[in-house]
Amino acid sequence: MELSKFHTLTLVGVLLFFIPFAYGWGIDGHLIVCKLAQQRLSNAAANAVSQLLPEYANNDLGSVCSWADRVKFRYHWSSPLHYIDTPDNLCTYQYKRDCKDEDGIQDRCVAGAINNYTTQLLTYSGNSDSSSQYNLTEALLFLSHFMGDIHQPLHVGFTSDRGANTIDVHWYRRKEVLHHVWDNTIIETEEKRFYDSNVDEMIDALQQNLTTVWSEQAKGWEACSKTVCPDQYASEGIKAACDWAYKGVDEDSVLEDDYFLSRRAVVNLRLVQGGVRLAATLNRIFG
Ligand SMILES: *[C@@H]1O[C@H](CO)[C@@H](O)[C@H](O)[C@H]1NC(C)=O
Ligand SMILES: *[C@@H]1O[C@H](CO)[C@@H](O)[C@H](O)[C@H]1NC(C)=O
Ligand SMILES: *[C@@H]1O[C@H](CO)[C@@H](O)[C@H](O)[C@H]1NC(C)=O
Ligand SMILES: [Zn+2]
Repeated sequence: MELSKFHTLTLVGVLLFFIPFAYGWGIDGHLIVCKLAQQRLSNAAANAVSQLLPEYANNDLGSVCSWADRVKFRYHWSSPLHYIDTPDNLCTYQYKRDCKDEDGIQDRCVAGAINNYTTQLLTYSGNSDSSSQYNLTEALLFLSHFMGDIHQPLHVGFTSDRGANTIDVHWYRRKEVLHHVWDNTIIETEEKRFYDSNVDEMIDALQQNLTTVWSEQAKGWEACSKTVCPDQYASEGIKAACDWAYKGVDEDSVLEDDYFLSRRAVVNLRLVQGGVRLAATLNRIFG
């Protein structure tokens, strides 16, 4: 009796743990973006982040980078803030035309949300007596998550296929939707094939390249004449979606080594750009 109760609970726990959140980079994608970002913070930004993080995060931004996906049901209003739908096959993005939700309400898309939470965080004073009108802990967690999402190419995808959520493919022998391939599966396959299934090793490899082969380009990725430049990131996103994610894929396509090995560099680049830009934005916000 006791034993079987224990087994049932364990099973439920295991199932909950493995149910993927099919919104934005999966847990590892967001973890990678936030871990890379936290290593690049200025002292002022690192202090502000450590003040704003919830206690249970233990000053690890990566550990709460998927919080925004977990609260999607509780904060139902936030679910359109994870992506942008652009007109089918145009392969361009324009804020005014595209940044709205399904009811046509302007600013309700991932680019609008990045502007929103950046503006909120600019009210941070570092002085716990003068509290902001906003919950800046939530603002930090939303901003950190959405900077990841906007760099996932299929989060700036076509409208009628909902960012490739309706395109069924085979990943080697497994059935998947194309959106999920880009959220999770390419990253998981990389981890398995190249990093002993260890996400920390993958982060180290990306970090290593960031300080060598990417160090010059990274300065260009950081550049932004305002506090944050989500329109640029979204324009790059739909271009990468057309050039790499959608390209050569139809309903029921079988995606194997050809696709994986040519797309993994795009995924790695977008993860690293997300991390570099999140850090640069937090550094500009907190001065
Ligand atoms: C801005 O943030 C507030 C507080 O979380 C939220 O209620 C509102 O929906 C957000 N709007 C956008 C466009 O992100
Ligand atoms: C801010 O948001 C966090 C996360 O939702 C919550 O735990 C905390 O209680 C909120 N703080 C205030 C002052 O409402
Ligand atoms: C790091 O850069 C090298 C050389 O360009 C490349 O072959 C390798 O795949 C890169 N690693 C990662 C994790 O991006
Ligand atoms: Zn998301």
